[in-house]
Amino acid sequence: MTVKTIITEPNKILRQISKPVDKITKEEQNLMDDMLETMYAANGIGLAAIQIGIPKRIIVLDIGRDKDNKEPMYFVNPVIKEKNLTKSTYEEGCLSVPDQFAEIERPSKCEVEYLDYYGEKKNLKAEGILATCIQHELDHLEGILFIDYLSKLKKSIIIKKLSKKNKKIDRIVV
Ligand code: NI
Repeated sequence: MTVKTIITEPNKILRQISKPVDKITKEEQNLMDDMLETMYAANGIGLAAIQIGIPKRIIVLDIGRDKDNKEPMYFVNPVIKEKNLTKSTYEEGCLSVPDQFAEIERPSKCEVEYLDYYGEKKNLKAEGILATCIQHELDHLEGILFIDYLSKLKKSIIIKKLSKKNKKIDRIVV
């Protein structure tokens, strides 16, 4: 397993629409292992493949936050079948939008169909933080980031901050 570099906004790669996986092979499983390792190393609770530059419809989650008792979840080709009309709000962050947080409203429950690590078809009814995380990660597969739900002004302030961070210029005093 390898810890990969997480791509951060602004970067066009994050805006790509990820492609469905035809078949889960060792390659996809290795990718999922790397994604999980990368996510744990960055102290995240979710990661989409595109965040490490791979445009495949794969996400990993572990909302347990318990380092001794890991509960990883793998979703390949996830599709949301149903969303609740009731909304809930969480303060969201994203490993691709470092150190920025905002309150985002999303459906409080959702039902998702997907393939697991071994390619088995699964169905999951999620609510609470899990429902929010699944929707956040699925957005990544469509090239959407949580900051896209903010006002133009708020979004541009965040992107400006991140652009400065990306442009690390060495200062020399001579
Ligand atoms: Ni994210």
